[in-house]
Amino acid sequence: MGCLPTGVGWAALNKPSPSEPTKQIYLTARDQQLCQQLCCDCTYNDKTWFQPTRESAVAKTPPSPAMGDLLYRADLEVPEDLVQVIASSPDKPQTPDHPSFGLDSPTGLLLSSFAAPFYLYATFRGKFELWDEWLSKVPHSTYVQPTLDLGCGRGLVLLKVAECKRKIAVNDVSARVAPAYGIDIFSTSDQTGNSAAATYRNAAAMGLLGHTVLHQASFAEQLPFADGTFSLITASLSLHNTSQEGRRVAIREMARVCAVGGRLIVVDLWGSFNAYTSALRDANWTDVSVRWAGLKMMYGILPCQVLEATKPEP
Ligand SMILES: C[S@@+](CC[C@H](N)C(=O)[O-])C[C@H]1O[C@@H](n2cnc3c(N)ncnc32)[C@H](O)[C@@H]1O
Repeated sequence: MGCLPTGVGWAALNKPSPSEPTKQIYLTARDQQLCQQLCCDCTYNDKTWFQPTRESAVAKTPPSPAMGDLLYRADLEVPEDLVQVIASSPDKPQTPDHPSFGLDSPTGLLLSSFAAPFYLYATFRGKFELWDEWLSKVPHSTYVQPTLDLGCGRGLVLLKVAECKRKIAVNDVSARVAPAYGIDIFSTSDQTGNSAAATYRNAAAMGLLGHTVLHQASFAEQLPFADGTFSLITASLSLHNTSQEGRRVAIREMARVCAVGGRLIVVDLWGSFNAYTSALRDANWTDVSVRWAGLKMMYGILPCQVLEATKPEP
């Protein structure tokens, strides 16, 4: 069984029997790159077609369990990768010199009144510094596997994770580093200038397009990914934007698509966490902690909390 990323997601390819004709599979440029990283022995007859030989249909080194699983659910439509869509569109945006991540909820800023300086500090600096700190404590090996950011917005956390992946890939060219996946509905009331194009521009400015996959999808519904896919799942200030039921769905789905031993890091406004911890308890997660995020992340008078949890063995 070989593991091939195709233009419509990942496909497991059975080794053809001697009587079968050689199969040709269309691959995008990124998929070719992934295929080289993951399948070890692929051959290409030109830049767009992959022609597996009988031997190369079987990976020489079996991919790790998370990579070997089908990444997307077989029963749902695979969403488009907006990075690919935008990159190949005639209106592809110019790459800016620097990324920019916008302001979280302009309405929240207005409501914060006299505490607006705290709000501005949190949105423009505090959350950046805290995510650097939290992500630096995640084991290096975690970044090699696929990771997911829910409500990625303009990419603050998504691209920090993609940067960790790039560092690993640059330092060890033989490492098979899977991309950072992000999903969002791109609501501009939750973040100014929020759009897939803005996230794309930031990824381009940071040289991270090759390590980033972006889908337009809601975390309050079934995620399009297969069980046990991701080694790290993050959500920064996003989950509170949906209903109580939506939050429970999001946590249940995070628990489902997280790999055994994988971890969740969820940061949100104080008061949103009961739904998160009870949904995790219902899924039999025991290693769950919630703490105050600290003074760097005060949205006006509203403090934030951070939940960290590790998925147990079944
Ligand atoms: C305050 S922004 C935070 C963005 C980013 N995580 C950050 O920390 O900079 C909240 C994000 O959640 C997204 N969002 C809200 N509801 C969503 C849903 N149901 N599914 C996916 N994303 C959602 C918004 O579009 C927005 O990008």
